[in-house]
Amino acid sequence: MNIAVLSRGENLYSTQSLLKAGMARNHTMEVIDPTLCTLTVDKGKPVLYYCDEVVDDLHAVIPRIGASNTYFGASMVRHLECMNVFPVVGAEAILQSRNKWTSFQILAQAGVPVPKTYQGNTYDAELLLKLFGKAPLIIKILQGTHGHGVILAETQASALSTIETLNTAKVRYIVQEFIAESKGSDLRAIVVDGTVVAAMKRSCKEGDFRSNLHRGGSSEIITLSAQEEQVALKAAKALRLGVCGVDILQSKQGPLVLEVNSTPGLEGIETTTGINISEKIITYIERNRM
Ligand SMILES: Nc1ncnc2c1ncn2[C@@H]1O[C@H](COP(=O)(O)OP(=O)(O)O)[C@@H](O)[C@H]1O
Ligand SMILES: [Mg+2]
Repeated sequence: MNIAVLSRGENLYSTQSLLKAGMARNHTMEVIDPTLCTLTVDKGKPVLYYCDEVVDDLHAVIPRIGASNTYFGASMVRHLECMNVFPVVGAEAILQSRNKWTSFQILAQAGVPVPKTYQGNTYDAELLLKLFGKAPLIIKILQGTHGHGVILAETQASALSTIETLNTAKVRYIVQEFIAESKGSDLRAIVVDGTVVAAMKRSCKEGDFRSNLHRGGSSEIITLSAQEEQVALKAAKALRLGVCGVDILQSKQGPLVLEVNSTPGLEGIETTTGINISEKIITYIERNRM
């Protein structure tokens, strides 16, 4: 099969890992940088140009869309869907999971346990905090990644001033209960095609509360409880993601889904667990496209 990895970074670990896994299974692999593409609808048909060449021979695509390129990246995936190219994650699913508020709405509707979360509003910061309850609480901008854009407001005064600042700056955000008992750790489960294929526990570095590996967190391999596994699978299904990373906080109320990532980094999970996730993604494509 001809499989494209949609990525701006040919030399990134995840891109290289996917290329290697595909070639090892005798597929023709290529990297397409979405920023070098031109999307057209011409004579009633979707046509894709990569630089000045028409691309019309792809069977499947593995989108690796960065947060800075969500809109165009998703548009590109939609274009490929219109050309009957199989995407391991669809355009709509990418857009929905990228927006922290949209994804909580969808997860809640599907009965997936999530932390108490309020959409930010701009008309009355004090009322929002009165309705929400007391600090400490978490405030997050809607499209942050790598732990950037997550604020722990330890007092009511800092929560209020932070919300007023975001309102003034016209930045959209959510307010969320702080799950103190997770102690700066969370679980990352990788789901491929309705199966948890790997899981790790991430813990924050000293002095932080964010467990992101990009923030200096550490990781260890773990086995999920049956309940955690069910929650991860339900979240992936609700957001219709064939491949994703589901982040789970261990709380007094049981596992709570914090976010679902449509482009999970592969380096941390593959090196922590020794599991070849890329190969699982390639065989998922084979089951659906061959
Ligand atoms: N409600 C919360 N309670 C406790 N810790 C949280 C909460 N929300 C986020 N965190 C911590 O901050 C990290 C980053 O938050 P997350 O919502 O995943 O944003 P990002 O998309 O930037 O990774 C999480 O992995 C977790 O360690
Ligand atoms: Mg996260």
